[in-house]
Amino acid sequence: MATKKILITGKDGQLGRELQNQCPVEFEIIALSRSELDISNGIIVQSVLQKIRPDIVINTAAYTAVDRAEQEQDIAYAINSKGAENLAKTCKDLSIRLIQVSTDFVFDGKKSTPYQTEDKVSPLGVYGASKAEAEAVIQKLLPDAVIVRTAWVYATHGSNFLNTMLRLMSERDELNVVADQVGTPTWTGTLARVLYSLSMKEKIKGIFHCTDLGVASWYDFAVAIFDEGKLHGLLPAEKKLTINAITTDDYPTPADRPAYSVLDKSRLLNELDIELNSWRESLRQAFLSRY
Ligand SMILES: NC(=O)c1ccc[n+]([C@@H]2O[C@H](COP(=O)([O-])OP(=O)(O)OC[C@H]3O[C@@H](n4cnc5c(N)ncnc54)[C@H](OP(=O)(O)O)[C@@H]3O)[C@@H](O)[C@H]2O)c1
Repeated sequence: MATKKILITGKDGQLGRELQNQCPVEFEIIALSRSELDISNGIIVQSVLQKIRPDIVINTAAYTAVDRAEQEQDIAYAINSKGAENLAKTCKDLSIRLIQVSTDFVFDGKKSTPYQTEDKVSPLGVYGASKAEAEAVIQKLLPDAVIVRTAWVYATHGSNFLNTMLRLMSERDELNVVADQVGTPTWTGTLARVLYSLSMKEKIKGIFHCTDLGVASWYDFAVAIFDEGKLHGLLPAEKKLTINAITTDDYPTPADRPAYSVLDKSRLLNELDIELNSWRESLRQAFLSRY
């Protein structure tokens, strides 16, 4: 079987970096940064894809500053929605398979049971709305595309909840963390494995949900990070820390976030020959793999 060429957008992001770390031998990858491929520019998208002629594009590039998006609506839409449209148009013209990464923020969090892939989207903020529009435009232009919604993504590199917590935990004796938003922390290692698995299944299309397994609040996640941080020597074993469970109302942010964003993963588990780990096990694996 000929090696398939995968173009990865957003090379320097959390997921872009993990995809480069984990590339299986079956694929040749070309990962491009924003300066090499700005997805918001349709002409550039067309010329770069025409030159590289990948078999698959995995679009990890995104405007991910959820709170700033409330002020920078035009930029968020230009990257998340128009960027996705540019990729979908060119992928259609050149018969390239597109795998788009999307988010739990397309939902409003008003459910109390896991979101199904076919549930109606109803984003609370600009970031979620721009990603929901991306999903819609991709499905319209390129019905064979794959859309993978994920949530609460972290890596051992980059700027994210895990690294922010580790820093604050080393600096402080007391922390307040929101306990009334629940979802599932998801390691980039899990996502990369699943995205490559989807890349191998040529006929698969449509929306999938991919997170680690289980349910946690940000408070639960912080407590687990503290335990693992001590276990793996990133925090002193004798470190004493009080972690207070607070409410969303105690910690107002410019963008509203879904209170409940657990995603149902049955389609993914049924159609791919893969297993997912609990978020707690993935956190342990993440620490073991990199720190
Ligand atoms: N992080 C999460 O918790 C989370 C949750 C659910 C879904 N997701 C989705 O998962 C995907 C990956 O997220 P992530 O956490 O890896 O994001 P990230 O770390 O913020 O990385 C995003 C990357 O996209 C690049 N980018 C921004 N604008 C671009 C443009 N116009 N053209 C090309 N590249 C551009 C950024 O480049 P610069 O460094 O130059 O800005 C950055 O390297 C995204 O689709 C995101 O929406 C993330």
